[in-house]
Amino acid sequence: MTYEALPPMSRELHLAAYPDDEVTPEHFRLTETELSDPDDGKVVVRNLWMSLGAVYRDQMIPDTDLPIPVFRPGQPMWGRTVGTVVRSNSPELAVGDLVEHFYGWREYATGYAQEFFRRDAGLLPAPEYFLAQGPTAWRGMVDMAEVGEGDTVFVSGATSGVGSLAGQLAKLRGAKRVIGSTGSKAKIGYLVDELGFDAAFDYHDGPVVDRLMELAPDGIDVFFDNVGGDQFEAAVAAAARGARFALCGALAGQLGDDAGGRPRLDLMTAYPKELVLRPFATLHSPDQIADWNEHFGRWLREERIVFPHTAVEGGIPALAENFIALLNRRYSGTVVARLT
Ligand SMILES: NC(=O)c1ccc[n+]([C@@H]2O[C@H](COP(=O)([O-])OP(=O)(O)OC[C@H]3O[C@@H](n4cnc5c(N)ncnc54)[C@H](OP(=O)(O)O)[C@@H]3O)[C@@H](O)[C@H]2O)c1
Repeated sequence: MTYEALPPMSRELHLAAYPDDEVTPEHFRLTETELSDPDDGKVVVRNLWMSLGAVYRDQMIPDTDLPIPVFRPGQPMWGRTVGTVVRSNSPELAVGDLVEHFYGWREYATGYAQEFFRRDAGLLPAPEYFLAQGPTAWRGMVDMAEVGEGDTVFVSGATSGVGSLAGQLAKLRGAKRVIGSTGSKAKIGYLVDELGFDAAFDYHDGPVVDRLMELAPDGIDVFFDNVGGDQFEAAVAAAARGARFALCGALAGQLGDDAGGRPRLDLMTAYPKELVLRPFATLHSPDQIADWNEHFGRWLREERIVFPHTAVEGGIPALAENFIALLNRRYSGTVVARLT
């Protein structure tokens, strides 16, 4: 077997410093590390794609409450990535295997074989599809909110990677009406024309509660919240009796002002409506991932779902810029960045 040539060096991005406020290219440092054949039990992987998301902004804060490790200045960053094994010194993985792992923000990853999870390349249309946020969308919409036939559903942050799948899952499970909030006219069109949402609105267009009262006059049965802030408060006001809330994220706090992550809960409204509030944090288990990939592949083949994503090019040199563009709301769906 002829192996593809291994370059002598691999480029990677390190965190240079914690940002106080706005993230700029100066908060990242592009470095190079030497590449060599792997030691016993290790493999070398050429990274194809990594996903970018708002959560990386939280990981640039040293003392967050996130249940996952944060980034450290002077160290390489990490993130969900797919790549191809190009050298193996382990019986567990072979050259050519497609793997998912967490050694992102770099062109090549070297590590023990157990840190890389083999994926069946034939299951999904392309490697970057394995980076979909499906397990989170499924856990919130199905396990937490128990969405079903006839529900009126509101998804905040509906063009985010998670939200754009959560809304489609609600339709797949028989929801009567799915409403999404987003930040621009173009993104409203995307939700309704391409993802099958029944209605969408721009959260900049006046009070969110007014939009919800217009679009769901009988109330919301399910709320999948990616945003927090005034969108959470509006959903409480517009909820139907017994509404189920899957509380997934707080984009208005992560990417907006801090208050967005700390909305007020109007108990005088919540009690009489008997709202069910279920915050959740998904640490994807191998079973959840396998189950999602299998369902996702089938639904894609049956054309019952699409993978909402934006692919960004330019490799490691453009990665910081692309991440900053995500923070500035330029993209829709899961953002996948080509690494090599
Ligand atoms: N609970 C869990 O287990 C779990 C797992 C994964 C992710 N999450 C959380 O779920 C949320 C969505 O994650 P993601 O990776 O899908 O997000 P993402 O794709 O990174 O979302 C980016 C989008 O967020 C929207 N946004 C930015 N600032 C906003 C603001 N101030 N108010 C409202 N929307 C804003 C923008 O769209 P617009 O143009 O529409 O504003 C932007 O395009 C995040 O809060 C993430 O941390 C939770």
